[in-house]
Parts: sequence; C-alpha cells; structure tokens
Amino acid sequence: MKNLLTLSELDIREIDRILVDAQGLVEEKVEPVNEQLFAANLFFEPSTRTRFSFEIAQKKLGFETVNMEAQASSIQKGESLYDTVKTLETIGANVVVIRHPDRGYYEHLIGKLSIPIINAGDGAGHHPTQTLLDLLTIKQEFGCFEGIKVAIVGDLSHSRVARSNVEVLQRLGANVIISSPVDWQDKTLNAPYVSMDEVIETADVVMLLRIQHERHSNLMGNTKEDYHREFGLTVDREVKMQPHAIIMHPAPINRGVEIADELVECSRSRIFKQMKNGVAIRMAVLRYALELTKGGLIKC
Ligand code: CP
Repeated sequence: MKNLLTLSELDIREIDRILVDAQGLVEEKVEPVNEQLFAANLFFEPSTRTRFSFEIAQKKLGFETVNMEAQASSIQKGESLYDTVKTLETIGANVVVIRHPDRGYYEHLIGKLSIPIINAGDGAGHHPTQTLLDLLTIKQEFGCFEGIKVAIVGDLSHSRVARSNVEVLQRLGANVIISSPVDWQDKTLNAPYVSMDEVIETADVVMLLRIQHERHSNLMGNTKEDYHREFGLTVDREVKMQPHAIIMHPAPINRGVEIADELVECSRSRIFKQMKNGVAIRMAVLRYALELTKGGLIKC
C-alpha cells in the first residue's frame, strides 16, 4: 500500500508509470476489480472536480464509494482527523482520499494506518493528483517535458497547484517561469519571475491560477477589472501567444479575472481536457496506491 501525499516522494519512473497507466485508461475501457474494495472520500474543503472525478474513477474501477460529509460527522463533536480515519479503516475502508484546509494535515497520520492516504489537496500545500493530470495534458500535447517552457501565472503564494507543479515539471526537464503580482510572489518557489509580456511571447504552456478568494480578503485593493488588465489572460494577450501555445487552468475559474470569458473554451484551451484527464489520473493513482497488479488490473 502506498500513500500519495506530495509528488516529491515519487521518482520519475513512478510518475511515468502513473502517466502511462492513465493514458491507457483514457484510451481503453477498464475491467472493474473482481473483489469488494471500499474507497472513503473525506472532503473538508469544497470541491467539484477532485471530489467527483475521484468518485467516478472509483466507480469505473468497480470500487464501492463512501463519502463523508464533515458537517454531519463526529468531527462536529470534536473527533480528531486521526480517529476519524482510523475508524474508517476499522470498519472496512481500503483507501482514503482527503482534502483538508490545513497544510500538511497528513503528517499526523503517516505511519499510523495500514490503508493508503491519497492527498486531494492540503491548504496551500500540495495537490498531487492535479499536478499529475496537468502532466498528462502537457505530455499528450508535446510528447515530452524536456525543454517545454511552462509559465505559471497568478496567485502563487496561496496555490498548492503551483507548489506541486514547479517542483515536478523542473525534475522532468521543463523550463518553468512564474509571474504574479508582487504581493502574491512566493520566495520558496525555485523558478524565475518574469513579466506577463515575457510569459505571453515565450511560453509553450500558459498555466493560469485561480485567485484564492477564500485564503485572503482582497485583490490588493484592485478591482477585478484592474487585475484582469494587468495580470490576466486578456483577448489582446492571447493574440500574441506563440501559434502552438496552449492555455491551462486547474479550475474553478474566475471568468473575466484570470482569463477572459471568451478564452475559456477557445481552441488553445485545454481546461476541459485537464478535467477529463483527471478521471484517468485518479483511476491510475488508486491502482498505484492499492498496488492492483495484473492479478488485479495493471498489465506491467
Ligand atoms: N482543480 C480542483 O482541485 O478543483 P476542485 O477544487 O473543484 O476540486
């Protein structure tokens, strides 16, 4: 059994194995498992894509899915996260998927459970399955990562997507550049800051980030229109992108803020392809975590 908490714990071979498995799952119908497996989904923060793509992934694999509503659970009576997950393990869950507002929430769980934990996002920490689906989308487009210039733009300091993506993309040989308003820069991200003009003119992938309204209270005093004009992907900027360049965004999207409304579904946009890839990636991650091999499922 293997946890998936951050991508730093996976080597390149393991990342590649998950991407290859996921690509196979995009192309082929999967045979469901022939044993009863329960997946428990614990979401302590709102989610649409991650939560429901995990649930669809589990159902496609033939798992039984149980969803814990934090508001209706004994968490409300003061039960700890550890006691909650230990309870789910005891009553039969084979894997737990957790999204939590606290960065590194999983530190309290490591080594104390015999079932795998899959991190579905921890505060401003990490979002490993988002990064894997982003990698799959880039690989489908360019066939490799070596030398691909990926610009990550926006609310960097509050973004778990940026933290996960910068580290892994660099390890895979991509040339990562970042851009954000000064107030949202993050000195822990080891990539060069560049202007929006440089992003637009040189990037192969323009990856926009959502402004995390729930993690801070304002737009540095700017209006949404100001932010869009200075840091957003406007219609005028899109025209200056390289002909082959693509647009990505983890979503949910603030239309008209990070990206012009009319660009969300334009021919360069891979935003909905990312979401579709999310199901295959989460199936592959569940198979990785539960080590479901050919006796179970995986052909390698
Ligand atoms: N991209 C992403 O994590 O979306 P959700 O918050 O809707 O899961």
